[in-house]
Amino acid sequence: MTRIDPTAALTGSMRDFRELQGTDLMARVGSFYEWQELRRSRSLWPYSRSTQAAPLPICTALDDSGLKFTGLNFGTQDYLGLSSDPEIKEVAKAVIDEYGVHSAGSSALAGNTKYSLRLEDTISDFLGVSHTILYPTGWAAGYGVIKGLVRPADHIVMDGLSHACLQEGAYSATPNVHLHGHLNLNSARRHLKRIRDKDATHGILVVTESLFSMDSDTPDLRALQSLCDEYDATLLVDVAHDLGAMGPGGRGFIAAQDMLGKVDIVMGSFSKTFGSNGGFVACNSAAVKQYLKFYGCTATFSNALSPVQAATITKAFEIVKSDKGNQLRSVLMQRIEQMRSALTQAGLQYMGNPSPIVPVRVGDEALARLVSRRLPALEIIANLVEYPAVAKGDARLRLQMMPTHSVENVKTLAARLRTAIDHAQIEHVRYRAAAAGVADPATAVAKAAQAV
Ligand SMILES: Cc1ncc(COP(=O)(O)O)c(C=O)c1O
Repeated sequence: MTRIDPTAALTGSMRDFRELQGTDLMARVGSFYEWQELRRSRSLWPYSRSTQAAPLPICTALDDSGLKFTGLNFGTQDYLGLSSDPEIKEVAKAVIDEYGVHSAGSSALAGNTKYSLRLEDTISDFLGVSHTILYPTGWAAGYGVIKGLVRPADHIVMDGLSHACLQEGAYSATPNVHLHGHLNLNSARRHLKRIRDKDATHGILVVTESLFSMDSDTPDLRALQSLCDEYDATLLVDVAHDLGAMGPGGRGFIAAQDMLGKVDIVMGSFSKTFGSNGGFVACNSAAVKQYLKFYGCTATFSNALSPVQAATITKAFEIVKSDKGNQLRSVLMQRIEQMRSALTQAGLQYMGNPSPIVPVRVGDEALARLVSRRLPALEIIANLVEYPAVAKGDARLRLQMMPTHSVENVKTLAARLRTAIDHAQIEHVRYRAAAAGVADPATAVAKAAQAV
């Protein structure tokens, strides 16, 4: 194994290990492991944690070095708290008794169940479209819809911050992938015009999200759909993070922008608001549904959702549509606003628009890791986000909100995060002064302490 510079625990990035050299495919990943171990040994590796009980606002977690801690949980994407909903748990128990725990087949063969067919109808009805196809995960839906529809001579124009499943699907489908500036319609239009000026015969898929999960912002979906119509392109919108949790009746930003039933293809996940694994693609074409079922590899050659998943997700949609759903969303939005103002009062800046995602940008990875390291001792669970989930140098803490958080939880989080950032900033200055060989690190630290 190569020797890794100890300072890499703060300065290195997962990007350093993307390209690997050497003939031995297994041995050459060792450098990443060595770097990961270095970070782990300094308590700077906050990933791969496991919860020791349901992901409620107060939760016990185990990190992958074996450290167990209990804290306020702002790291769970259970946006309406439905993963522990008593009605949904009752449905799960009844369906297990009725059906067992497995569908035992792909949806292209005999893996459909009465519950999966009902779920497809529920989603079509919810989104105002005629057809829905289910996938084993949201990732499989994003990857599969792109890979299923796009061929190598076609083009993809996608928001540069699109989720990994969309990017992986795009790059595996065609070499003609054009990233446009984040939320930038002019940039999307320039790409579309340039492509259509040269190529009038192949397809163009335009890909975006209705709520970007690292930045908490939303494109103008109506304008994007018009652009697609103008340039004979097809629009695909990933609604993983807002469907169920946001918008009129929980129908997300598509409904908020009066685009229900008017977006070419909608793709989503059940892993955020709907308390389960799984994903879907919905549109107004029976032909597209049938084509994806047999040519979209991740549905065709993968087992269908289990009956218990399909039934509990259907129940989750029922709750999302009900008065209870409206109340949960209303409390969620109150907590989101309370969190944003508590952070402001604590002198911290958050990014984006009000949504269950409240990202607190730190920027420098070293500082962000030092902040994150302090959180377990302060009894806070919050995810550190760095490359590859966001660009290098743009690290952040991502807070995820649930209606089950109390106002007190929110205030405590803001105060403790402020403490963590203040202390980490001092630590960071000391570290940078030492790395730069500054003769008087104490003065540098004193100045930093005054600044915070
Ligand atoms: C925008 C977006 N799309 C798709 C997915 C994949 O969803 P799933 O967790 O169901 O695989 C995610 C989850 O991380 C996501 O954030």
